Amino acid sequence: MPFTLLENNREWSRKMREQDPEYFERLANQQSPRFLWIGCSDSRVPANEITGLAPGEVFVHRNISNRVENWDRNILAVLQFAINQLRVEHIIVCGHHGCGGIKAATEGTEEGPLGDWILPIRRMVQDAPLQREDFASENDWINYLCEQNVREQVRVLRKNFCIREAERAGQQVQLHGWVYGLNDGLIRDLGV
Ligand code: CO
Repeated sequence: MPFTLLENNREWSRKMREQDPEYFERLANQQSPRFLWIGCSDSRVPANEITGLAPGEVFVHRNISNRVENWDRNILAVLQFAINQLRVEHIIVCGHHGCGGIKAATEGTEEGPLGDWILPIRRMVQDAPLQREDFASENDWINYLCEQNVREQVRVLRKNFCIREAERAGQQVQLHGWVYGLNDGLIRDLGV
């Protein structure tokens, strides 16, 4: 099974070089993406593919339910690097409908590291302006929470030290909150 992946890779590399012999040489020398993507780890939401971006065009960070946690050194380092070194112009938080992490937070049965990760999402679910009874179906409620989650992450980003410092220094960093529909493959801008 893993051999299929390696075979696919050799085929892909061959095709890319066929189209553009200097493709890899150019990419190996530098990356200058204009976008930082903060998305869910969900295998159905691949950042490059759904936005039509080629290698080198988007710096990607993915975790369960596209969270921006102030105690998570991983994402803080990603933000610092993306803003200070790569000087990205846009930071996109892209959630998706039917997110498993959000669903798990409404059920609240996870333990271990996954339970720890989901705890702040559970708090968000409890504090949300609308609750389960405000929706016709469980799915509608989950999708609403997926969108609320994106809005919350954009709010957290606004207070991020690196972003504030960059803005103070006159560096433009635009924040976006998006949600991806698993049913139609379309991204909606939540306008946050
Ligand atoms: Co998800």
